[in-house]
Amino acid sequence: MKIIDGQAIARAIHEQSKRRVQELAVNGMTPGLAVVLLGDDPASRSYVRAKDRICRELGLHSVKHELPEQTTQKELEDLVRALNGDKAIHGILVQSPPPAHIDERAITETIDPDKDVDGFHPANVAKLALDDPTGFVPCTPLGCQRLLAESGVEIQGAHVVVLGRSMIVGKPLALLLLRKGRDADATVTVVHSKSRHLEEITRSADILIAAIGRPEFVKAAHVREGAVVIDVGINRLEDPASERGYRLVGDVDFKAVAPKTAAITPVPGGVGPMTIAMLVSNTIEACVRSLGPHPGIDTPAA
Ligand code: GUN
Repeated sequence: MKIIDGQAIARAIHEQSKRRVQELAVNGMTPGLAVVLLGDDPASRSYVRAKDRICRELGLHSVKHELPEQTTQKELEDLVRALNGDKAIHGILVQSPPPAHIDERAITETIDPDKDVDGFHPANVAKLALDDPTGFVPCTPLGCQRLLAESGVEIQGAHVVVLGRSMIVGKPLALLLLRKGRDADATVTVVHSKSRHLEEITRSADILIAAIGRPEFVKAAHVREGAVVIDVGINRLEDPASERGYRLVGDVDFKAVAPKTAAITPVPGGVGPMTIAMLVSNTIEACVRSLGPHPGIDTPAA
């Protein structure tokens, strides 16, 4: 059994990103990312800070807007519109989930699709479904695909079972792996909390991707001997014995499942760091695209 080291793979991608940022700097361009967070949910805050810190480390221009929980829909939309018009900003991310009084769909639709590095805007969702490579693909699905590719896992022709149907992970991941071409061409099945015969289906997976948002949901009985398991879940479980008062667990019962697998991602240190690596890569891509056709500057591989 191999433990897939997402941290190490993300570090290698960051090195590539750093070089791309340096190349762009020669042309007087600095990729800029704006991250917006409403309220003070501790997990969201920690993600937003990690995104901001890594962007800065890699030489991107990073702007973090941490707004009060009570921020109105109009205030948030006005901020997004201002960022749409800001030439120093190439990518805009509004951290999900927002507080309950915010209409998230309307916010997503306010973001300029060319700056939608999350890939959540309907125009980008449509492009993914239409196999149009000019859109942005959500970062976590991209991170899962890249983890598999970098770990030498054959995706073409494999039966991938995606557990979870969210707009952030499950649905776009299914579309991404269904695409034609290298690192895709999978046979994809999507299952969720209401699926019948769930265990039977997940047991038929060559690659099982757990993104259901329930701590340690996937048990040994869900997994075929020799399967590859990717754990997208990041759940905080109270743990008085831990210094922070909680510990992070995935959607997979790692201890029970790992011995059965050919390869598995840990939590933390698996998919999480890859999501940020793909966010940086999408932001660089948005910056390059904003230059229009430009000899000597290639579009980086997503
Ligand atoms: N919340 C959890 N994952 C994500 C993500 O990829 N983007 C945004 N905007 N919010 C998230």
